[in-house]
Amino acid sequence: MDIFIRNISEEAIKTDALILPFFENYPPDIYSDIDYIIGGLIKKVINSKEFTGKQNQITLLHVRNINADRILLTGLGKQNDITSEKIRQGGGKAFSYLRGIGVKEIAVSTALFDCLPKGFTALKKPVFYFIEGGLLSLYRFERYRKTENGTEIKKATILGDKDIPLKWLRVLVDSVNFARDIINTPSNDMTPDVLSNNALGLSSRKIKVKVLEKRDIEKEGMHAYLSVSRGSTEPPKFIVLQYKGGKGAPLALIGKSITFDSGGISLKPAEGMEKMKYDMAGGAAVLAIIKAASELELPVNLVGVLPAAENLHGGSASKPGDVVKSLTEKTIEIINTDAEGRLALADAIGYVIKYYKPRAVIDIATLTGACSVALGNESIAMMGNNTELMGRLKEASEEAYERVWQMPLFDEYKEYIKSDVADLKNSGGKNGSLVTAGYFLKEFAGDTPWVHLDIAGTAWNEKDKPYLPKGATGIGVRLMLNFLKEIQS
Ligand code: BES
Ligand code: MN
Ligand code: ZN
Repeated sequence: MDIFIRNISEEAIKTDALILPFFENYPPDIYSDIDYIIGGLIKKVINSKEFTGKQNQITLLHVRNINADRILLTGLGKQNDITSEKIRQGGGKAFSYLRGIGVKEIAVSTALFDCLPKGFTALKKPVFYFIEGGLLSLYRFERYRKTENGTEIKKATILGDKDIPLKWLRVLVDSVNFARDIINTPSNDMTPDVLSNNALGLSSRKIKVKVLEKRDIEKEGMHAYLSVSRGSTEPPKFIVLQYKGGKGAPLALIGKSITFDSGGISLKPAEGMEKMKYDMAGGAAVLAIIKAASELELPVNLVGVLPAAENLHGGSASKPGDVVKSLTEKTIEIINTDAEGRLALADAIGYVIKYYKPRAVIDIATLTGACSVALGNESIAMMGNNTELMGRLKEASEEAYERVWQMPLFDEYKEYIKSDVADLKNSGGKNGSLVTAGYFLKEFAGDTPWVHLDIAGTAWNEKDKPYLPKGATGIGVRLMLNFLKEIQS
């Protein structure tokens, strides 16, 4: 879709549909000129109470006497309660609705955004969020089947001379959709090998990619990670990406990249197992973040690590009770082969600290079912050993509305993962399994500042949301890009 910013009036713009955002029960004075020309239709709809401006409410009017064929009234909720997220959702509602009725060209009025309450603070121009939500809502996964009547909006015009960082917006949306495509692709077409090819596809002057094969992984002594894919015929691929855009020690981003998680010998129930193709959502997010950082030329150094593997049950699969030794030499008793993510991540953390001496490590992982038990689908669970880093992530997360909520890593959790035969065991049982998973990872981070983001509850949507269509959400990408934008200065 082409996006233009034009200093032209609502009456003059020639378009298939003109979007007029509204606050709830707000005197529609700002649109009185255009309403007069179209014969008071807007007032009529508002007086009928069919449209009040409630959040995410939309009403379509076919109009005459102006250059636009249609007007879409879009509700953003009460003026005093307005947030960037409500604006984003309004954009999502409006764009996806207009695409649905086959509209090709749209325009967005920004007049309402000059009437924001004093308390409204946001980093970007409000219309940025509207367009961001709009564009994000249009994502479709069409690899295996084209959507019927699948028309696309070709052109969007933003009215007014607002300076909006269009490049940032584009890269943001494209990289989220890049992650969504990888995550939505089923595991037969997104094996560790295919994932590594996706990473290699990002190779450029600024991005170096290397892939450690099974024998290299053995040589490095990453037996915890190796144990995960023993039951699968798909070989593991340890993917390392380096983006150089700045000076100094890099920030390491590690993404859980289990391309399918059957649970292994500790088999998962059949119901819902098809969704375990999204167990590489963390890895896809890391790829997307590095791609975007490079396109935006962010002045930071990054190392991305994707310990890709398929967790299946098979003749040579790991068995409960097996003991493996990690790269850091810590030994782990595998109590539950379904707690495989932490085995892969433990070695990725050990590896990246050993070879890259990063200033900090952030891992993004669909790590525990307990994450959604605790927080539902509304928030990422955050744990870590560094308060400052967690504080910065929290700030970045609010702007993106990819919220994080901090969970504790009490020393007492160490007891939960004590093994009778090894240094650690990979499952602390049912109680506290969100935080004991985090505590397990902490044991491998040592003194390096480290934060763990559990995205198990937020990486996948069961139902369409205003700008997050059903399926992979691409969570983590917008959060981390906001975070990187702040740390560069
Ligand atoms: N990939 C799963 C976690 C998961 C579950 C992500 C549902 C998204 C949706 C992870 O590998 C897992 O199976 N974790 C176990 C750990 C347990 C055996 C200690 C869990 O949370 O049940
Ligand atoms: Mn598992
Ligand atoms: Zn898993």
